[in-house]
Amino acid sequence: MKKQKTDIKALISQMTIDEKIGQLIQLNANFFADSSADITGPWEKLGIDKEALKTIGSTLNFHGADEMVAIQKKHLEEDRNKIPMLFMMDVIHGYRTIYPIPLAMGASFDPETVTECSKMAAREASAGGIQVTFTPMVDYVRDARWGRVMETCGEDPYLNSVMGATQVKAFQGDDLSDRDNLATCVKHFAAYGGAEAGRDYNTVEISERLLREYYLPAYKACIDAGVTMLMPSFNTLNGVPSIANKWLMKKVLKDEWGFEGVVISDYNAVGELLKHGMTDSTKDAAEMSFNCGCDIEMMSITYYLHLKELIAEGKVSEKAIDEAVERILTLKDALGLFEDPTRGASSEKEAAVCLTPEHRDISRRAAEACAVLLKNDGVLPFSESTKKIALIGPFADSKEIKGFWACCGKDDECVSVYEGIKALLPDAEITVARGCSAQWNELDKDGFDEAVAAAKNADAVILCLGEPQKYSGEGNSRADIGLPGVQNELAALCLEANKNTAALVFSGRPLTLCELDAACPAILEMWFPGSEGGSAAANLLFGKVNPSGKVSMSFPKAVGQCPIYYNHPSTGRPKRKPEDVHQPYASNYIGCGNLPLYPFGHGLSYTEFTYESMELDTHELTKDGKITVKVTVKNTGDRAGKEVVQLYIHDLYASAVRPIQQLVAFEKISLSAGETKTVTFEISEPMLRFWDAECKHISEAGDFDLFVGYADHPYIKDTFKLI
Ligand code: BGC
Repeated sequence: MKKQKTDIKALISQMTIDEKIGQLIQLNANFFADSSADITGPWEKLGIDKEALKTIGSTLNFHGADEMVAIQKKHLEEDRNKIPMLFMMDVIHGYRTIYPIPLAMGASFDPETVTECSKMAAREASAGGIQVTFTPMVDYVRDARWGRVMETCGEDPYLNSVMGATQVKAFQGDDLSDRDNLATCVKHFAAYGGAEAGRDYNTVEISERLLREYYLPAYKACIDAGVTMLMPSFNTLNGVPSIANKWLMKKVLKDEWGFEGVVISDYNAVGELLKHGMTDSTKDAAEMSFNCGCDIEMMSITYYLHLKELIAEGKVSEKAIDEAVERILTLKDALGLFEDPTRGASSEKEAAVCLTPEHRDISRRAAEACAVLLKNDGVLPFSESTKKIALIGPFADSKEIKGFWACCGKDDECVSVYEGIKALLPDAEITVARGCSAQWNELDKDGFDEAVAAAKNADAVILCLGEPQKYSGEGNSRADIGLPGVQNELAALCLEANKNTAALVFSGRPLTLCELDAACPAILEMWFPGSEGGSAAANLLFGKVNPSGKVSMSFPKAVGQCPIYYNHPSTGRPKRKPEDVHQPYASNYIGCGNLPLYPFGHGLSYTEFTYESMELDTHELTKDGKITVKVTVKNTGDRAGKEVVQLYIHDLYASAVRPIQQLVAFEKISLSAGETKTVTFEISEPMLRFWDAECKHISEAGDFDLFVGYADHPYIKDTFKLI
């Protein structure tokens, strides 16, 4: 973080203890927005004195630049120290122009797309008065029942690390005081995605080895990339909620990783220590959280109620309070707030910067890069000269495709599939038949006849299926992750009527799509694509753009396979043939098998890529040496396309059992028809390290397999030795 001008230490020395504690509290904007108008208000409900509001250091959940400017102005008039407030929000996949959900961004396998989208979001959010975003969310996930899988980049620690670090760098830029940049906050530390049975806020019980190997790397990568803040998670981790977990917050975060940024609790997480049953007193909750390094308490007021008393009793040190305040004021300073407390935010600027054609273009290109062609038996792309098109299903003309956590994005600003196709093919005759609802408990089939008639009468049918956008995101776990309601029945009837059919799937998670897969010739996963989802779908369906996304989280065949992930350790009883569905005494599920329907890394294109060779300059790697790997790929099809070259290793023998495959590098390349390119990767010893049984991070000499291709269908394999 670049140092600015303010003398922070001098400022702290003139602050009273109450003023210092005020910096450690974050409240919703409605506490400030109308504080002069009402006698009663949210502050009274929470139990905070109205006078104390003048000292509060930061806020969240405000609505646009005007509200922010008004709050900041009033605050600076009232605060005798003239310390500006910090304005924070969840800018997860866009501010007003919404781009695809993070799980989809993972599927782009394209850090450049992530950078472009993050910079756009920072520009818009900053114009709207936001200074810190609660991004990136890098919780590692394996269980699609959990609704918050939509906020992560998926089931691979390396991919998650790359995408998390990319977001940090793109949002923050080189200089936080630049008005187009935002500070970032990595979350939710740690292992929130390990919630038992995918139920949100549920217990997380995992070994230290598993934690270090799969769950922690992405948080660490964000810290290494310079993230300014960190948010502990709601969950218990091996018995202790993260916010009060000394091992996690002190030993790992501070002592081992040396994190020097600001730590902020999750929403009311300090207060929830009582619900967890860690204590029956808010005073204990304050002591535990503060002494574990939580600088700012979000939306509970135990610090306000008790820190002063805890200092007097010697249970919390004033020096530690000063240090926490210093971290917060240093961040304010780095953002340039002392000289520029509103950073140029205004409703005029917001209107000028947000949802511009350029930003819509970025969002559309991102949605195109993220969509994954799961299956294609040759029906796609449809011809642009198709005359009669039937758009069938609950998402046929729906604008509810921006996804959860879309900040200030609005449904009615999204382009629906119908609108996208109409704009692309103005002369086509398009019939829209919703057919049924996407809600799990709405089973009405009254729309089926109309839908089947439309399918019969069309040259091409597009089924627009999925789960409602509010079925994923915080608090939205599902026990059945199929297409909700009667959508499968609708699809089956339409497919009987017309085989020239492709399905679009809108979802915040991998769904179980076996029925659809068996019946439908082509399936394009759109995720929740954001503001330009319909335009992207149209371009992809009619071949203006070639799909290039790859699955970022395995699509299970059945919910009973969850948790499911490609990089699982070897078992002592693997199946002879992975595709077998019944082999007694093998690690397997009868009838279903243990392979996913679509594995991590899978994704088709309208062209063909041939992996021609993988060449290693040496097959022996020394501890401080490297192996250069050159992978040559040819586009052997007849149209341009993009391929994600994925490099995996398998450590064959180790003192702790290793994953059967592990992604160590990837690169997305563009190839015109007939073009050949060579991608160069480097392998070095640190990439081969793992956490052994005693939780030491080591590498062991021995043999490794190297694959290039997809997780379960490697195209080329070679071996090397670490000596
Ligand atoms: C979520 C966080 C979010 C915070 C503030 C919480 O409920 O878990 O991810 O940053 O609210 O909106």
